[in-house]
Amino acid sequence: MSSSALPSEVLTELRTSAIEVLRDNDLGGATRPSPTLYPHQWLWDSCFIAIGLRHIDPERASREILSLLHGQWPNGMIPHVIFSGSGSYHAGPDRWRSDLVDGGPEHVQTTGVTQPPMIAEAVVRVGEVFDPARRHEFYRAIYPGLLRYHCWLYRERDPDDTGLVTLVHSWESGMDNTPTWMELTRRAAPIPLKLIRRLNGDGALDALRRDNKEVPSDQRLSATDLFTLYHLVGELRDARYDFSRIRASRVPLIQDVAFNAILARANDHLRDIAADIGEQLPDQLLRSARRTRAALPTLFADGMCWSRDARSGRLISRPTIAGFLALYAGVVPPDNVEDLVSRMTARRFWPAHGIASTPTDDPDFQPRCYWQGPVWVNMNWLLADGLDRAGRGDLAERLRAGTISMIAGSEGLYEYYSPFDGTGVGSNHFSWTAALLLDLLDGRKPAHHLPSARTGANDGEHLTRRGG
Ligand code: SER
Repeated sequence: MSSSALPSEVLTELRTSAIEVLRDNDLGGATRPSPTLYPHQWLWDSCFIAIGLRHIDPERASREILSLLHGQWPNGMIPHVIFSGSGSYHAGPDRWRSDLVDGGPEHVQTTGVTQPPMIAEAVVRVGEVFDPARRHEFYRAIYPGLLRYHCWLYRERDPDDTGLVTLVHSWESGMDNTPTWMELTRRAAPIPLKLIRRLNGDGALDALRRDNKEVPSDQRLSATDLFTLYHLVGELRDARYDFSRIRASRVPLIQDVAFNAILARANDHLRDIAADIGEQLPDQLLRSARRTRAALPTLFADGMCWSRDARSGRLISRPTIAGFLALYAGVVPPDNVEDLVSRMTARRFWPAHGIASTPTDDPDFQPRCYWQGPVWVNMNWLLADGLDRAGRGDLAERLRAGTISMIAGSEGLYEYYSPFDGTGVGSNHFSWTAALLLDLLDGRKPAHHLPSARTGANDGEHLTRRGG
């Protein structure tokens, strides 16, 4: 059933449950992704969350983004997790020890890696619902930190000026167990983990993990993959999160296509934000941004867009959803657009409920396992935008409507969904699913119901945290 066929009571109920999830996950000035599995603040989660919050409480949306700066390191990095919640997390502060790093964050513990740079997109989307004076005030508050972050990405992670920043851990990609990252990550596993994997001993290791209390192990990454990721965090910690030292270690390094595509778009947004408040981006950053746009097309081969192993220079030709983000960045060479769109919308990637994170005919495909197959609402959201940019508004509309019906068809707001039958899997009460659902639903309101754009007013549903 398409979302246009859903009765208006169902749409109203969906909206109400989305607002409830965001309210329940509100930590005060930041939102946790979910109540038990992810009890702190995550970088790209907060960006998607702000994009939804702008429809119900624009001021709270702006605070969500500004709160990311509380975790910013003096060198400019914005970390992937800011430990600002109170729950226990399986890869918490003791694994990272940011407090022991010279140049670590000053007032809060954080991880030592970053996550896809969605901030500029979120800033612009929130800016759209403010009047110009309030928008300028918000832009002025975020701009210096955001600029330092983009400069850090290039200075620290692209010291050779290739135009593509290099990631040092799959958690930076946001797509933890995607086959692209696991291909290189498994090679860097300690020998005992390699042996356990070869002997199919993951089940025995499951007893030692803490992330499978709410979500069953078979919906998360395998135990040997998880323990390899912990091991790699140890290597990063030993290298004090310093890229020149990390390069000298055995940690896999990847020029991740999705991350760089998001960065390309974010650079454009950052330039617009700067222009709106009468600032000019530094020449060096403008040059880096141009290099990123020029370098992304070099990741195309055989009709797909791949990540690159930054150590060998080889393209990692494992088809996953990541390459389609080139559509969102608008960097697909014109002659490739139609072909890339038809690959993304073919049944192996779009069997029923949106774009599968790993295609259904891949040897690693599992419909309920994290980034090895499930559909993610944030990916559908980004790729619908990419389809619009590619001139395929018809497919974008189908993807958005299908996402709403998929959520409506499952009892809850889940972290991810089976691409075949839309069953909700992973963590329930998931904030970015709730927030992006609000955004998708808002696109379906008749124009006179839209929040009075540019006035900052909304429809009275300010986000008040339940029970303080
Ligand atoms: N997604 C990772 C986790 O499972 C970290 O970002 O905690």
